[in-house]
Amino acid sequence: MNEKRAQFSNMTDAVAQDWQIIAKHHMAFCQGLPQRIVSHLQLLDGDFGGFPIDRLSHCLQAATRAHRDGKDEEYVVCALLHDIGDTLGPFNHADMAATILEPFVDEKNYWIVKHHGIFQGYYFFHHLGLDRNLRDKFLDHPYYQDCLDFCQQYDQNCFDQNYDSQPLSFFVPLLERVFATPKKSLYKQEV
Ligand SMILES: [Fe+2]
Ligand SMILES: [Fe+2]
Repeated sequence: MNEKRAQFSNMTDAVAQDWQIIAKHHMAFCQGLPQRIVSHLQLLDGDFGGFPIDRLSHCLQAATRAHRDGKDEEYVVCALLHDIGDTLGPFNHADMAATILEPFVDEKNYWIVKHHGIFQGYYFFHHLGLDRNLRDKFLDHPYYQDCLDFCQQYDQNCFDQNYDSQPLSFFVPLLERVFATPKKSLYKQEV
């Protein structure tokens, strides 16, 4: 592809013009984020991992239930993405999802997604010899109940093989709106 590129070998040699080229590319790249998220969610399609439904269906069911309960778009998108980290972060999937969402959602939603792995453990850790009450260490946290509610209403119950979830395409406009503009970022000025 014949596109303009910066010309430095070391960043110490870069000039403002180089960074104008990179910034322009970065802005276009950011606009493609919702589509890349959709593509990554599609990796969860057919990935059962022993569960009754595959990981994409689980995410769609979580998002559909949240949407039908009248939750706002940001919350619905959090429900949709809460397990997106399963493919590359099988040992810290909640952190991965939270990190992707962090610039675009409020502090509470970020906290819910980041900690849902621990709170979700209430429903199965005891079957694996782990402490199901690990979430108790957050009892005094202002978002404790919010995270508990998320797992109760939009996670532990979202393995129903007969639930009529909306398709992924239904959530694309929500994804595009939530990921349109970061609320906070190290690069905010440029974005
Ligand atoms: Fe999860
Ligand atoms: Fe989940």
